Amino acid sequence: MTLPHPASDLRTSGSLVRRLTFRLLLSAAFLALVLFLVVLIFVRDISQRTHDSILFASATSIMDSLRVQAGEITLDIPYAALSMLGNVSDDRVFYSVRNNGRILTGYEDLPAPAQRPISGSPVYSTVGYRGTSLRVVTLARRLSLDSGPADIEITVAQTREGQTAELARLTRWALMLGGGFFLVSALIGIWAAQSSVQPLHALTGVVSRRGPKDLRPVRHAVPSEMAPLVHSLNRFIERLRVSLARSEDFIAEAAHRVRTPLATVRAQAEITLRRVDKTENRASLREMIRAIDESSRAAGQLLDHAMVTFRTDSLERKPVDLDVLARDLVDRLRPVADLKDIDLQFFCAGVSAIPGDAILIQNAVRNILDNAIKYAPSETSVLIDVRQGPLDVIISVTDEAGGFPPGQDTAALTQRFVRGSNAAGTIGSGLGLTIAREVAEAHGGRLIIEPSGAGAGACVSLSFPLR
Ligand SMILES: Nc1ncnc2c1ncn2[C@@H]1O[C@H](COP(=O)(O)OP(=O)(O)O)[C@@H](O)[C@H]1O
Ligand SMILES: [Mg+2]
Repeated sequence: MTLPHPASDLRTSGSLVRRLTFRLLLSAAFLALVLFLVVLIFVRDISQRTHDSILFASATSIMDSLRVQAGEITLDIPYAALSMLGNVSDDRVFYSVRNNGRILTGYEDLPAPAQRPISGSPVYSTVGYRGTSLRVVTLARRLSLDSGPADIEITVAQTREGQTAELARLTRWALMLGGGFFLVSALIGIWAAQSSVQPLHALTGVVSRRGPKDLRPVRHAVPSEMAPLVHSLNRFIERLRVSLARSEDFIAEAAHRVRTPLATVRAQAEITLRRVDKTENRASLREMIRAIDESSRAAGQLLDHAMVTFRTDSLERKPVDLDVLARDLVDRLRPVADLKDIDLQFFCAGVSAIPGDAILIQNAVRNILDNAIKYAPSETSVLIDVRQGPLDVIISVTDEAGGFPPGQDTAALTQRFVRGSNAAGTIGSGLGLTIAREVAEAHGGRLIIEPSGAGAGACVSLSFPLR
């Protein structure tokens, strides 16, 4: 029985990894944007403050150079007052000094601040002037002259090209920082998304590596979120196991119930056969006995198969000496072989014990030996050979003539109830090779079907791993 590939006809709705990755990338992008904006605002503010404080220092040093001599205001602008601005950038500097709104020195058209500054605290503004943008600071101070109070207003301004260039640099820097942050958190996000579905992959691996008969509950440790899934999987497996066991029990019981009355019927038919003289009656009685044999053979095989299925479910592994087991079987089947004048030859070259279930292995070997005796022609030899390979012990049963029908798909013969074209006229149920294969596979070994060395007969082998 081949199971359909699970992924082929399963409907999927999206992907957990993709969904998770998408969300993590989205939040990384959002955080990167926030980081970019915060850094940008912060550095712009710091840069503005730095520029403003130089402007302020410059205006203050001009203010400090104000003198009142003989009731007149004199002003000697120190060189450093303006050169300190030039040190920062190549921007042009403008200034004006006004007394009660009247220009004392400097640029007359330099715009005055919108609101009058209070004495001592500077007013900053950004204004357009002669086609460019200026950063302006204005300081005010009231002097008492003999002629009355003089409101002095000092304005220092600087073009903003240098500052703009610096801001562009800072923006680029903040952009790079935000981009770098996004990149790193995106990588972490992708990694996190991949690794969070890792337990799912692990569980899939554990379940799909199981043999087809393995119905033990899943004991693999999983994250708590996956526990309900594993729990229901286990409940499902348990239900399956129980219902399988029930049907195997049923088959065994049914086979058993059929076999016993069949034996009675057969005995009666034999007795009648001895009493009857008419040829056609004897022929039909023989036909009847044959049919009864066929049915009880089938019932026996069904029983064996149910037993094999049941025992492989919980395979016991005790050391089994295959040479002893095979020799014993050969001795038991010798009378059957003698009826066909088949010579059973046993060869064994000292083999190690293998771990396994002796009853199952005996059943398997008996089936292939039985086949050889059944399908090989009379007056031939059948060789039973037990030998040890590097990893396994191999029992092969080889006959000299007969062989599998030419063109026969031998793999198909190991399926339940499949018989070859050479089986016509022999009693059988098509379960022998199935049992042999299932037993070998339950032990981790295999059933090998080949033509015999001479080419005329069949060679059927069972291999059982040494550990
Ligand atoms: N030693 C053999 N030589 C020739 N044919 C064989 C041999 N063993 C098995 N076969 C073929 O394989 C088929 C399946 O074997 P098996 O499963 O034992 O069923 P059964 O013996 O009941 O027919 C047989 O019907 C027969 O055609
Ligand atoms: Mg058979």
